[in-house]
Amino acid sequence: MKFKLLISIILVFSGLASAQTQNIELDNRLDWFKKAKLGIFIHWGYYGVNGVTESWSMYHKKISYQDYMQQGEKFTANKYNPEEWAELFKKIGAQYVVMTTKHHDGVALWDTKLSHLNMIEKTPAKRDLVAPYAKALRKNGLKVGLYYSLCDWSHPDYDVVFPRPNTKKDYPQKGQKKMDSWERFVLFYQGQLKELSSQFNPDLYWFDGDWEKSEEQWHSKALKDSLLSWNPNVIVNSRLNQYGDYKTPEQGVPVVRPEGPWEFCMTMNDNWGYYPSDTNYKPASQIIRTFVEVISKGGNLLLNIGPKPDGTIATEQKELLETLGDWINKHRSAVFETTAGLPYGHFYGPTLTSKDRKKIYLCLFDDPKNYIQLTGIQNKVAGIKVLGSNEELAFTRNGGAAWNNIPVILRINIPKDENLNKYVSIIEVSLEDELKLYRGHGNAVELND
Ligand code: GLC
Repeated sequence: MKFKLLISIILVFSGLASAQTQNIELDNRLDWFKKAKLGIFIHWGYYGVNGVTESWSMYHKKISYQDYMQQGEKFTANKYNPEEWAELFKKIGAQYVVMTTKHHDGVALWDTKLSHLNMIEKTPAKRDLVAPYAKALRKNGLKVGLYYSLCDWSHPDYDVVFPRPNTKKDYPQKGQKKMDSWERFVLFYQGQLKELSSQFNPDLYWFDGDWEKSEEQWHSKALKDSLLSWNPNVIVNSRLNQYGDYKTPEQGVPVVRPEGPWEFCMTMNDNWGYYPSDTNYKPASQIIRTFVEVISKGGNLLLNIGPKPDGTIATEQKELLETLGDWINKHRSAVFETTAGLPYGHFYGPTLTSKDRKKIYLCLFDDPKNYIQLTGIQNKVAGIKVLGSNEELAFTRNGGAAWNNIPVILRINIPKDENLNKYVSIIEVSLEDELKLYRGHGNAVELND
């Protein structure tokens, strides 16, 4: 009996210890990601030639498989300058980039040996597009993210819902004839990931399409283990069933702050790929507000662009990136030296707090009226200024009963018109010591002054 008890105690403790090492290890891997704030998503592929939806246009039978693939003949990449891309991304404050190395359509952008359906063999581009991308990012100090679709609507062993000719000739499968078709597919896709891992040593994998199969079918756990054994520092988004390292909501900012590390990805118009007839671009004001909202909730924004088939970035997209970048560069301390802001109830709008918890940044989406109000801050305030202009703002502590733990209101004078930012103004509140918040429900003043 005693022996059994001892064994179970040992098991519990060794389990705890290994969970702890795993957590520490995960924290280390995620360290850069948690501070990144801005990433650029790139959807680049055949679909930009006709301006159709990436892969999904086939799925929804808007275009036949043959016509979709024929777009490859006009995918030139003849003005592709990844160095220029990387410099632009760096200039605007992005810390990482994620590019589609293979979307659901199955077209590989790198020199894969596992299918002929790649940019080298099928397009006039005739070259590996991932290698120079990874090189340019690294040269500019940006982290390298690779998007990879688990589902593959071209592979002959992958079942699809739309008519498709036999694609076997594009997939060399020597010695695999006797295998079960799904086993063959798993071997194929894990082989492609091995190629990507060994050739580009990615910092991040961005999987997609896991919902088409179960984790047992993908062998997700084994894949995650392999990815880590190939690149011990790699991080993985949440689309590898339950084996992701961070959450990946898309297109609508979560209303409730997600727990743990997360990233929000969003298109600039309504499409991921280049789609010239889609002119429904979000205004710069919306993109900047979204960015602020996301970082105030502790996440990163992964903002998408869809380069043209020649490798250039459409003017509208470039301008939006630059406007966001100008705003970020004017507000760098609020963006990069902060973590998520205050919980609900202290300020009507997004906030950020400095890493040392001695500064609060109030983000004004609208021009303020009468005064700016901050509630329930127990600290003495050292000073308040507008980021950008450095205008000092006068303030008064009012109401409450600090001696009885009843919160006061901080009434802050509004900035001069010329010091308000066109998009989002940031007010920096410096505290005398580490932030102490009042989070109570109120009570009677039992001892008056
Ligand atoms: C969706 C779409 C896919 C796109 C991805 C980006 O999952 O299926 O086309 O690449 O979002 O988040």
